[in-house]
Amino acid sequence: MPEGIPWPFSRFYDRYVNRVFVKWFRLIAADVKARQISGIIVDIGTGPGRLPLEVAKQVGDAGLFGIDISEDMVKIAQRNAEREGLADRVRYRVGSAYDTGLGDNSVDLILSTGTIHHLRTPGLAFDEFHRILRIGGEAWLYDGRRDATKAEFEATVHKLGMEGDLPLPIWLLKSMWPHMHVGLKTEAYISGNVGRALSASPFKDYDVRKEGAYVTIMLRKT
Ligand SMILES: C[S@@+](CC[C@H](N)C(=O)[O-])C[C@H]1O[C@@H](n2cnc3c(N)ncnc32)[C@H](O)[C@@H]1O
Repeated sequence: MPEGIPWPFSRFYDRYVNRVFVKWFRLIAADVKARQISGIIVDIGTGPGRLPLEVAKQVGDAGLFGIDISEDMVKIAQRNAEREGLADRVRYRVGSAYDTGLGDNSVDLILSTGTIHHLRTPGLAFDEFHRILRIGGEAWLYDGRRDATKAEFEATVHKLGMEGDLPLPIWLLKSMWPHMHVGLKTEAYISGNVGRALSASPFKDYDVRKEGAYVTIMLRKT
């Protein structure tokens, strides 16, 4: 199985999954605005590209990039940006978390949602994130917890205001969640393959936190 999400799964993902996250993306964008972060902001594993679009709407002066290893995802993202009239604000390109094509110390903020669990060698991605971030730059990485309880799943859906947007009834999604390709077991982010890659990475300042049905991994280049 490839790391990326190729056609036709990319089309399904755009239509039934990624658009459900828009309210969450708005909250992340509001955090970017509240922290007064601008400059160059990169979304790794952008998929259909909606997170950088929401950031573009709230952070007027940011230079935004969306990078994905799937060619079809990048096409979808470009089309979504055109539909929103933001194609001149966000540049999407085919690239890998391991090799973004961006310059050393050139990025102010890295964002990523739902992508870390796709990476076969997360350590290579953390090396690349460290290389491209400027000193003081941060990476905010969010990924699913496949062992979240049904109550945590429901609380997160409620907190992120997703109830009205779900493609299937919540009782069904709650039961399906551990069997969907949503993320790793929590332990993997702490002491498993991702946790070990983090502790071996050049990042000395990082924090892994459990937040309902997902984890947040915050990295800072010192
Ligand atoms: C589950 S989707 C998440 C998409 C979007 N960020 C979201 O939250 O809906 C994971 C994305 O990561 C991409 N991906 C997987 N491995 C990658 C890699 N090594 N480098 C860049 N993108 C990758 C996939 O093609 C896919 O679009």
